[in-house]
Amino acid sequence: MENILNDDYWSQRYNDGQTGWDIGYVSTPLKAYFDQLTDKSVAILIPGCGNSYEAEYLLNNGFTNITLIDISAVLVERLQEKLQFCIENGTCQVIHQDFFTHQGQYDLIIEQTFLSALEPSLRPAYARQMHDLLKPRGKLVGVIFDFPFDGGPPFSGTKEEYLAMFEPYFQPVIFERCTNSIPQRAGNELFLRLDRK
Ligand SMILES: C[S@@+](CC[C@H](N)C(=O)[O-])C[C@H]1O[C@@H](n2cnc3c(N)ncnc32)[C@H](O)[C@@H]1O
Repeated sequence: MENILNDDYWSQRYNDGQTGWDIGYVSTPLKAYFDQLTDKSVAILIPGCGNSYEAEYLLNNGFTNITLIDISAVLVERLQEKLQFCIENGTCQVIHQDFFTHQGQYDLIIEQTFLSALEPSLRPAYARQMHDLLKPRGKLVGVIFDFPFDGGPPFSGTKEEYLAMFEPYFQPVIFERCTNSIPQRAGNELFLRLDRK
């Protein structure tokens, strides 16, 4: 089946300003997670990065190895301009690419409204690709919706569905009700911490 959620689809959304997912600042649950990390040299990937307020926060706080990928050419061009300084000093790279074709090895991958942007049939491939992109003992950390949307994107899921999807590749699989969500998402998202098997 052809994937219509492609570069054209997402670039059109950015061109039209139809970016309801964009909260405009670093997500509070992720900020709290970042604030307790001590090693600022860890290799971090943010796939489906969008405007990447999380990356800006990390870079402003001394993290030195950030990779951002997004399928939208429009978004990536804007982001490369916004983060030009960090790209030039080598602390950050911004790649126009489909996540599923990306190759690399990371200590930490950050999820936020990327899984919910993908056709649900891609979820097994998402879990496998996340596993393959992590170094041994690497972690996938982030926030995912468990609120039942009509249609999509965003596409949601239940804790049980997420567990089944991740358990082949991660151990332990920890999902907790997010207690520090932004107000608009309070009660509708889980915080996930998964260790690569
Ligand atoms: C709902 S937006 C979320 C953006 C960002 N994570 C945020 O929270 O603001 C989904 C993003 O994923 C990107 N995307 C969708 N499918 C992708 C894929 N297969 N590979 C890489 N990026 C993808 C879109 O272009 C878009 O920027």
